[in-house]
Amino acid sequence: MSKVAFITGAARGIGKQIALTLAKEGFDIALNYRSENDDVENTAKEIENENVKCFAVKCDVSNFEACEEAVKKIIDEFGQIDVLVNNAGITKDMLLMRMKKEDFESVIDVNLVGTFNVTKNVVNHMMKARSGRIINVSSVVGISGNAGQANYSASKAGIIGFTKSLAKELGSRNILVNAVAPGFIETAMTDVLKDEIKEEIAKSIPLKRMGTTEDVANVVKFLASKDSSYITGQVIHIDGGMLM
Ligand code: NAI
Repeated sequence: MSKVAFITGAARGIGKQIALTLAKEGFDIALNYRSENDDVENTAKEIENENVKCFAVKCDVSNFEACEEAVKKIIDEFGQIDVLVNNAGITKDMLLMRMKKEDFESVIDVNLVGTFNVTKNVVNHMMKARSGRIINVSSVVGISGNAGQANYSASKAGIIGFTKSLAKELGSRNILVNAVAPGFIETAMTDVLKDEIKEEIAKSIPLKRMGTTEDVANVVKFLASKDSSYITGQVIHIDGGMLM
């Protein structure tokens, strides 16, 4: 039977690339998306072209009950979830002086509480199977902090604490929990930056370029594979050397 990977926020960007990369490895894919505006149909077709099954579930990860329902649907469809990638995330950047309570809360709700909501509902199935991989998408700014991103950095730092705690709780059940910390990756999320700013950032990175979605997906592929069977509780930086 094929292994199943569940990736949140996977209709576009890094999540889509992770889904495609794992599909190429033979995983059946459960693909989460938030709204009809996400181009989920095309993403699903691209995944199915890899000769694996793709099951798309609409759900806002910040809603616990919706996550519970989504996980039930995936288990009904595939019977198991071997790999969970908590990728869904948002930004609402601004200096603290101007940041409203709602701007702080909504970013924490999607990025951090969303990671809890999905993981909490998936982990029972992994515990029964006595195996599983959980890969959480954090960020370099969860380690370094960043002016204008107090909400986002706090959410991404929270994901790192969550990852390490779960790695300790679940190791004896053969469930491996790791995080990736991407730097600046070319996606819709960073497209909002002005070209001059992107060039400045690229100059400051030892590898002198922004990362691609493939750069991230290939590390997730490794963390989902047998090759990483003695790695848990780690945060793998994918940032061209930006943060050392
Ligand atoms: P993106 O904006 O292209 O994709 C994010 C996806 O998450 C979208 O498909 C969106 O619909 C989904 N999403 C947002 N809120 C959701 C919710 N409440 N429920 C379900 N899905 C939801 O962004 P990108 O760049 O692909 O980001 C993916 C992950 O990588 C995020 O967690 C982001 O924080 C992280 N990241 C991105 C970096 C970058 O430079 N692009 C750097 C470091 C981390």
